[in-house]
Amino acid sequence: AAEQENVGNLKRKLAKLFQLSLDATVPGEPDIEPQVAACTAKFGDYQCNNAMGLWSKIKGRPGIEFRGPPAAIMKNLPQSEMIESCSVAGPGFVNVVLSKNWMAQVRLLWLQNIQKMLVDGIETWAPKLSIKRAVVDFSSPNIAKEMHVGHLRSTIIGDTLASMLEFSNVEVLRRNHVGDWGTQFGMLIEFLFEKFPNFEDVNETAIGDLQAFYKESKQRFDVDAEFKDRAQKAVVRLQSGEQMYRKAWAQICEISRREFDQVYQRLGVHLEEKGESFYNPHIPGVIEALTNQGLVEESKGARVIFIEGINIPLIVVKSDGGYNYASTDMTALWYRLNEEKAEWIIYVTDVGQQQHFDMVFKAAKRAGWFPADDRQYPKASHVGFGLVLGEDGKRFRTRSTEVVRLADLLDEAKTRSKAALIERGKAAEWTEEELEQTAEAIGYGAVKYADLKNNRLTNYTFDFDQMLNDKVKMPFPACLLLCEGNTAVYLLYAHARICSIIRKSGKDTEELKKTGKIVLDHADERVLGLHLLQFAEARQVVEEACSNLLPNVLCEYLYNLSENFTRFYSNCQVVGSAEETSRLLLCEATAVVMRKCFFLLELYRTLMA
Ligand code: ARG
Repeated sequence: AAEQENVGNLKRKLAKLFQLSLDATVPGEPDIEPQVAACTAKFGDYQCNNAMGLWSKIKGRPGIEFRGPPAAIMKNLPQSEMIESCSVAGPGFVNVVLSKNWMAQVRLLWLQNIQKMLVDGIETWAPKLSIKRAVVDFSSPNIAKEMHVGHLRSTIIGDTLASMLEFSNVEVLRRNHVGDWGTQFGMLIEFLFEKFPNFEDVNETAIGDLQAFYKESKQRFDVDAEFKDRAQKAVVRLQSGEQMYRKAWAQICEISRREFDQVYQRLGVHLEEKGESFYNPHIPGVIEALTNQGLVEESKGARVIFIEGINIPLIVVKSDGGYNYASTDMTALWYRLNEEKAEWIIYVTDVGQQQHFDMVFKAAKRAGWFPADDRQYPKASHVGFGLVLGEDGKRFRTRSTEVVRLADLLDEAKTRSKAALIERGKAAEWTEEELEQTAEAIGYGAVKYADLKNNRLTNYTFDFDQMLNDKVKMPFPACLLLCEGNTAVYLLYAHARICSIIRKSGKDTEELKKTGKIVLDHADERVLGLHLLQFAEARQVVEEACSNLLPNVLCEYLYNLSENFTRFYSNCQVVGSAEETSRLLLCEATAVVMRKCFFLLELYRTLMA
């Protein structure tokens, strides 16, 4: 009976039993979904949480009204070999104690599963997705414009999603869809010609601040009609491929690119640039194909695709005959599906672009690029995220500028974590280089984790003090920065502590893995063991985070893992106990899973510091 039982299965089985009970308890209310959860309390293994919501529904139902829904749910629960006993807890819960015999069989399988992971590697716990190749379109800043905190969020979230898919054996094309095309290049090029007649020798030091350069040329464009005229002509000349214009354009892109690369390097993010310009040659063909399908219509001089339920159409050719953001995105989507054969195409931008992507996807669906059933591949998903807010609750800004520059922000994270390290006397212990590297790793890691742990759709408040929270001071073997709360540093500390427990035991875990056995007799061992297993399970952590594109699910898992470990460690003696071997293996398994989480959340460099 215990064959194939994993935690998810077990929960589903219990849910089925409770479904039968709920149907009998409140007949005529078919839509009540059983809520079954593991309980950490000592009264049981699992609990059903439906009762509280039923008090209003049982009024006037004799029998139930008297003793209340929990008792009724318990009474109506069918007999099962799984269940040893049940009890009512307050007005809202029914607790279940699972059968010892049945669980012993199940648990044996679980133990084998953990042990197998330890021997064969964490890859045995990778989710199985049904696709081979995906595109993750993320970061995607615009040339010569500011790379702002929105792009930072896109970079961090996109990178993590890509890593999770890669862990799931999906080949990921990490695409930087930089804004390297468009009318703004006319004015930039003309301005470059004007300021630097020998523009080909110009490098970033000569131009200085590219954003300032952009602003200056925009000012010119707005007030000087003659310049504006030249700039507009420059766009045409660029687009028709005139060599000098192409060169100037490439020059500007290159300078921007170097700036972006510095940020990627600091964050340890890898992605491949295929900017808007890459898709240009394919646009006419794609529009023609859509036109031949009868999808493109004439509207106010422009050529557009109408989409059901949305009152504005998707403009694919502007009234002046030029292409726009949407023409490029339709073409990039076509390219990714047909040339790159990607089955899942994921776009990471702020929620402000949701309607744009909604329209692009729906237009593609009208063209038959996607199956009618949204759950089937190939499919496209927009991963939107909320605003970054300052402590005043308004859009995040620094004192002086309108937008926060990414480089400044990373500088500040580093400065702060360095100050914290110096405060702990690290300047005397470490070389300047070690100090720098550790400060960077911790500072950037803190920024990443603070972003990822939130549900991406909610706005989040950027707060350095909170993300580098270091209220509790204790010795720390790896980076000696101690933290409390749901922060990167706290989690890294938890991991370092586990490693030091194993180290201090003097045992070789490689040997233990082969010969030792894990037992989960203590309640806190069991909770920890079950939590570890959830990492691997279908519809559990990584797969859920992947399928629903929600990195915070993984953060939450990681945080709970370290909490469960702490509870286990404070109640179960490891070194020198009768269960030493088993408990060391449990420590090791926890450390392995934590490291995988750090890797997926791109905190690995921080860990190595
Ligand atoms: N460059 C755009 C921006 O900064 C983001 C591009 C997102 N990707 C795409 N395929 N449209 O807002």
